Parts: sequence; structure tokens; C-alpha cells
Amino acid sequence: MTSFNTEQVKAGSAMYSRFVLSIYDFFFLWYNLRFLWKCPARFLLDLYNQYISSNHLDIGVGTGYFLDRCKFPDTDIRLALMDLNPNSLRAASRRLSRYKPETYRRSATEPFNLDAAAFDSVGMMNLLHCIPGDMKTKSIVFKHVKEVMNPGAVVFGSTILYEGINRNARATFAIKYANKKGYMANLNDSLEDLVESLRGIFPDSSVNVIGCEALFWARK
Ligand SMILES: C[S@@+](CC[C@H](N)C(=O)[O-])C[C@H]1O[C@@H](n2cnc3c(N)ncnc32)[C@H](O)[C@@H]1O
Repeated sequence: MTSFNTEQVKAGSAMYSRFVLSIYDFFFLWYNLRFLWKCPARFLLDLYNQYISSNHLDIGVGTGYFLDRCKFPDTDIRLALMDLNPNSLRAASRRLSRYKPETYRRSATEPFNLDAAAFDSVGMMNLLHCIPGDMKTKSIVFKHVKEVMNPGAVVFGSTILYEGINRNARATFAIKYANKKGYMANLNDSLEDLVESLRGIFPDSSVNVIGCEALFWARK
């Protein structure tokens, strides 16, 4: 059984204070995605528009930016939000209050135990690089996700990798700094390991790299 270091798991979500969330969309989703990670937010929004269903669970919700902007395929929407950090859950559920979201305070590293109906899509955008361990360890998250997916459901997301992508000196510095602080834990994350881990759990899966981000989807 995989075991995570609880303090490191907490550190991966601890930086999302009310203040950080108030500047998150501008600083992280506009500036960093475009100029540091070289993957403008529209590529991640495209992933939502392509794979989101009207029975959706989102894990690691941040401010709820993508859920606020994406197009659901239907008007009758069931939306569930999961995050370890209560600030993120609060900010996203307020922003998305029009969907009356279910909220779950959980760590993706632990079995979800939701006691709720399964989902037709699961989003996990920019979550894996916050989770400690190498890709093999992190793949436990895919196992937990699979347990709450209906047959045919899709999981999709993105993560910033360290190996197997092109990164410039600024991106290397930023990743090393964030790893030192505990905000990110991706110094051992490679493209090859992500592809392998995902395929090990979801044979029908795909990974595409844009800048430092790996964008993936997989079908149960
Ligand atoms: C980088 S933000 C991504 C937010 C949003 N998905 C986006 O792409 O803009 C990471 C989010 O994942 C949450 N998070 C970090 N570690 C987590 C864990 N182990 N379980 C659940 N959520 C976690 C953080 O609290 C934060 O809300």
C-alpha cells in the first residue's frame, strides 16, 4: 500500500490562502501559464470544453476559474468540488454557486469515501504537481478517481512536469523554488512515467505536452 507523508501532502495545498486565491487567476492562470509554463489557459479550458459532462467531479479546484468559464453539455448540472484546502473549496463554491455544488474536503491521496453517486467526468487540473512522491506514488490518485467514475466516464487534467518537457532557465528556477517551499512536488515527474502510470490504470488514455504542462485524458 502506498503511504504519503502527511506534512508534505498538507504543504502541497497550504499556500492557497484567501490572499493567494484573490490574485490566483491573474498571477497563476494568466501570467504564469502564458509566460512561465508556456501553456496559455485557453488550452486547459479547451480540455474542459471537450471532456466535461453534466455529472462532474472536480479535484483541486483553486478558484474554480475553468468551471466558471467552460461550457457544460447540458443545463441540468450536477457539480461536485473536492479539495484539501477549505479556502479553495469556499472560493470555488461561491463562484459556482449557480450550480449548487456538492463540496468534499478530502485529500486526493486518500480513498474518497464519498457515499454519493458516481460521476461521468472528473477534472484534475494542475493537481498532480502539488502531490508528493514520484509518478508511481501519485498514480494512487488515478485509482481513487477510477472508483468514483461510471463506466465510460472520462478523467482529464494537466500537471507541470520536470522531465520530458522543454523548460527554460526561469521555469527550472521556479520549479526548484516551489519544490523547496513544498508548494510543488514534481522534481521526479517525467512524461514517460505519467504516460505509463496513466496507462497502467486506464488503458484508453492520452497525454499531450504544451510547454511545461502535460495535458491528459483517460476513459474508464
Ligand atoms: C495549482 S491549484 C489548481 C487549481 C485549479 N485546478 C486550476 O487549474 O486553476 C491546486 C489545487 O489543488 C489543491 N490540492 C493540493 N493538494 C491536494 C490534495 N492532496 N488533495 C486535494 N486537493 C489538493 C489545492 O488546495 C489547490 O486548490
